[in-house]
Amino acid sequence: MKINTNYRNVADSYLFSTIAKKVEQYGEKNPDEAKDIIRLGIGDVTLPLCDAVITALHGAVDEMGKKETFRGYGPEQGYDFLRNSIKDYYESKGVSLESDEIFISDGAKSDLGNILDLFDKDNSVLVPDPVYPVYVDTNIMTGRKVQFADATEENGFLPMPDEDVKADIIYICSPNNPTGAVYGYDALKAWVDYANRNNSVILFDAAYESFIEKEDNLPTSIFEIEGAKNCAIEFCSFSKTAGFTGTRCGYTVVPKALEGGVLNKMWLRRQTTKFNGVPYIVQKAAAAVFSEKGHAQIKETLGYYKENAKIIADTFDRLGIWYTGGKNSPYIWFKCPNDMESWEFFDYLLENVQVVGTPGAGFGKNGKNFFRITAFGSKEGTIRAMERIENLLKK
Ligand code: MLT
Repeated sequence: MKINTNYRNVADSYLFSTIAKKVEQYGEKNPDEAKDIIRLGIGDVTLPLCDAVITALHGAVDEMGKKETFRGYGPEQGYDFLRNSIKDYYESKGVSLESDEIFISDGAKSDLGNILDLFDKDNSVLVPDPVYPVYVDTNIMTGRKVQFADATEENGFLPMPDEDVKADIIYICSPNNPTGAVYGYDALKAWVDYANRNNSVILFDAAYESFIEKEDNLPTSIFEIEGAKNCAIEFCSFSKTAGFTGTRCGYTVVPKALEGGVLNKMWLRRQTTKFNGVPYIVQKAAAAVFSEKGHAQIKETLGYYKENAKIIADTFDRLGIWYTGGKNSPYIWFKCPNDMESWEFFDYLLENVQVVGTPGAGFGKNGKNFFRITAFGSKEGTIRAMERIENLLKK
């Protein structure tokens, strides 16, 4: 037996597990202070599922308890009722899809890792730096080399294509995790044109699209860009949109225009072979997000997180600290004060004010002097954390 030695090339533990361990160790050494730690590190939601979702969930649970309505295996690619609701959602953005271009899954993270099954090992991969670690680690685990597009303060953490760099597989996340920066229409068009010219595929992570404000006129799907169906796959999720981080449901759009429909067929083949679908009750809950009631209720929840984001952004405005995000995104990515490095700043915040964030270095070398705070905490916790940070940093 030979193990996959590529695993030697990834860090021993996933970023958020490392952070959780560090916080736990701090708590063991400082039990009193640990009682009042405010966690704004991992981007996990804190508000409960909305009423419309819970009602749908209960209804589906009852169906499963009756012989006439019980369901066993469902279609691996998702039930039509959910695929059609997603299709209509795209239609409302002016994007026409066929329902068999939409695949339901247990979340964007899994699909972003699993999609690599469709591509030969011999492909050049381009990811921005800083980046959501999943894109990098999943490629390293399969033995691919990754090259990076520098996202920096100078380019507003939105790198643009470089004609001198050859990339077959390109990852783009907008609104971005971790930086909160959002590509506009022209910038995304430049990426789509680059991909079409170079026969590359863009893996577009739209997990945070629901944070985009209508009035800011920013793309919420890569398929709003002309030519994108020929070169892009889009990943999305109910996690951040509707609080499904613990309920697990997402979807991936593989257009048939891409590679003459081959990738759509391959993904179907992959999913029907390796996946047995998302539970019926969860898909019913997800479909409720698109009902009139569900839509209004998630809007309220998103509004709550957006208000947190504003509280955080306003604090950095007052402190005169440079940041991206905070609007159209649940993340605020800011420069560590006094040239501190991000892990040093992590310890500094934890030890002095018991606030947990995410060190930028965990997302790549360009995050070395940056730090991420999420807006997914409670309002009261966010206000208290920002008061503590403001008092500490204005000293
Ligand atoms: C994060 O904090 O970056 C998120 O939890 C990422 C994720 O959704 O997996």
